[in-house]
Amino acid sequence: MPLTDTFGRLHDNLRISVTDRCNIRCFYCMPETDVKFVPRDEILHFEEIERFVRIVVGLGVRKLRVTGGEPLVRKDLPVLIRKLAGIAGIEDIALTTNGVLLAEQAAALRTAGLKRINIHLDTLDRERFRQITRRDDFPKVMAGIEECLRLGFETIKINAVAVKDLVEPDIVPLARFGRERGIEIRYIEFMPLDAQGLWLRDKVLLADTILKQLSDEIGPLEPVPDPDPRAPASEYRFRDGIGTVGFIASVSKPFCLNCNRIRLTADGNLRYCLFAIEETDVKTALRDGSSDEEIARIVTETVSKKWIGHEINTTKFVAPPRPMYAIGG
Ligand code: 5AD
Ligand code: SF4
Repeated sequence: MPLTDTFGRLHDNLRISVTDRCNIRCFYCMPETDVKFVPRDEILHFEEIERFVRIVVGLGVRKLRVTGGEPLVRKDLPVLIRKLAGIAGIEDIALTTNGVLLAEQAAALRTAGLKRINIHLDTLDRERFRQITRRDDFPKVMAGIEECLRLGFETIKINAVAVKDLVEPDIVPLARFGRERGIEIRYIEFMPLDAQGLWLRDKVLLADTILKQLSDEIGPLEPVPDPDPRAPASEYRFRDGIGTVGFIASVSKPFCLNCNRIRLTADGNLRYCLFAIEETDVKTALRDGSSDEEIARIVTETVSKKWIGHEINTTKFVAPPRPMYAIGG
């Protein structure tokens, strides 16, 4: 039985958060101090994650993305990547990381079977990086990016969160850097998922504004032909043929109607939406001797409860009880 919800959307994409811990403190995600992390014994073991993935592959899941918190702070992550890459039916494994530990780990990840990597970087300015992440790790992230380029991953993308009155000076330098290095920069509209309730609608730097800034200052952009209708990013290429950029316009142009994703949190809860208020406990079933069939039924039921989409743009919007680092982006 494929994972189809009541709106006819097919779910073939699972995002797995392997930890809620992080080594930096981006303000749009984490609080500065007193972060409440999940106790270690509540975090799923690699064997539990692997079993869960095998079960959902039986339900049609074909693509995986490993996230955090920061996934590279999870010990022995390449071991998990290797296990997941070996599961018959998995066609694609990607990783989203802040890049701080990448220089040390990229080679092991590549060898383990990872082909695609998204690195989260909002600025090329060391001082603004420190201001945003409350840590001075910009040189490490750059070293991580260089190492990935050297190793030749299939795709390397950079995720930049677009916050108004803050990152405007970074938009063009990032795109130029991407053009030089063959890296797609994806600008992600700031979403109401931060831990301190700082999000405001007028803090969102809109995709259209960025698109205009890039075309004015670098050169004309045109939509990439034949886009994947299920992809959250709309991709554009520079008309001079050098480089592409992507826009994840979650706020100004929600793409919920094409959503194909479910999410497993580090502590073993299943979410049908990034913004879901409810989640389903699967850890208990993974630990109490439930059969694969029982777990598959929990997944199917969760997907059947999926709503049509988030309500960021209505007065009904309620931010989810977990901030980004605890959900897995
Ligand atoms: N809004 C938009 N994107 C965010 N991310 C983290 N917090 C937010 C937010 N409030 C992004 C990071 C990371 C990805 C997992 O989610 O850039 O790359
Ligand atoms: Fe860490 Fe990612 Fe959250 Fe930044 S956005 S604090 S890197 S989990």
